[in-house]
Amino acid sequence: MNIQMVDMKKMYEEIRSRVEPKVSEVLSGGYYIGGPEVKAFEEKAAAYIGVKHAIGCANGTDALQIAMMALDIKPGDEIITTPFTFIATAETIRILGATSVFVDIDPETYNIDPEKIEAAITPKTKAIIPVHLYGQAADMDRINAIAKKHGIAVIEDNAQGFGAKYKGRMLGSMSDIATVSFYPAKNLGAAGDGGLMLTNSDELAAKVRMIANHGQNERYKHHVLGVNSRLDAIQAAILNIKLDFLDQWNEKRRQAAARYKKNLESTAIIPFEHPDSYHIYHQFSIQVKSRDDLQRYLTDNKIPSAIHYPIPLHLQHAFADMGLGKGSFPTAEKVAEGIISLPMHPHITNEEIDYISDKIKEFYN
Ligand SMILES: Cc1ncc(COP(=O)(O)O)c(C=O)c1O
Repeated sequence: MNIQMVDMKKMYEEIRSRVEPKVSEVLSGGYYIGGPEVKAFEEKAAAYIGVKHAIGCANGTDALQIAMMALDIKPGDEIITTPFTFIATAETIRILGATSVFVDIDPETYNIDPEKIEAAITPKTKAIIPVHLYGQAADMDRINAIAKKHGIAVIEDNAQGFGAKYKGRMLGSMSDIATVSFYPAKNLGAAGDGGLMLTNSDELAAKVRMIANHGQNERYKHHVLGVNSRLDAIQAAILNIKLDFLDQWNEKRRQAAARYKKNLESTAIIPFEHPDSYHIYHQFSIQVKSRDDLQRYLTDNKIPSAIHYPIPLHLQHAFADMGLGKGSFPTAEKVAEGIISLPMHPHITNEEIDYISDKIKEFYN
């Protein structure tokens, strides 16, 4: 058995017959940045998510930064987010000179706890960034209600849940602006880096498009300071094809998750799927005792695994200036200690899932 954390090769085999002629067509067509493939993908992605505008960019980190620039986030502004996420979510807040204000997570969904958001709001708060962690929705109705009451913006960081839903609505369609990553290992991944911003606002769409292109809306007329962040034509062409497979791949992830859950429910804390959620299990992450020993045991048995995330952001050295020590966000800290992600991708077999589950059970017996 050759178990992969994410099996890129099997995924590629499934789409190869469509991708190879398409990439060759793009290369012969001469449009490498922007052009018809990017436009077609932006339109298809916007229709799929059910928003008015989708704007491509270079990666999910840039998407967050550009979204915040379009919302005029400046030094001194405060942005509320979760400490239990990939660093990009908070890194971009700090890069813009704003302050990241962390709020602890819900112990079941691992997403920002809406109960705790209001206590973190001050006159300087400009936005909330919920992250749909592991492909499960944050509680968007409650987050949006709080944001509306206080007149602040919401940016959904949907790097991990393309095609996932909340109360039947697509993630990425429920905020002022949403951001997406197409990093290859994402559930919709490119063959390199890529990102997207989604919005129903004509004004924000025009602004992010301008900012992503050096602040210009006409060639060599720079209205604002921007960045260089564009989606390549080859990536757009590949994503266009992959989007046709996404629903079926997400469904396969759900089936794999169901099998893992059944196998492991008495051995570990299995992922909780909120009844409002159509979770797409970008990661299948369980909480266990003696996590590091288990990980070593899995490695010895040639089973890959990963820790998402071992150190909550407030305890990262890069955020040391915030002066937040251990105990600041107890739920995030506790989850970080016990969480481990198991191999998860649409092509994982029942045999592999059972083998991994058996090895985990064997470790605890
Ligand atoms: C929650 C979250 N936000 C943002 C990003 C950044 O995306 P990218 O790697 O495309 O810059 C990631 C990617 O790992 C992520 O998981």
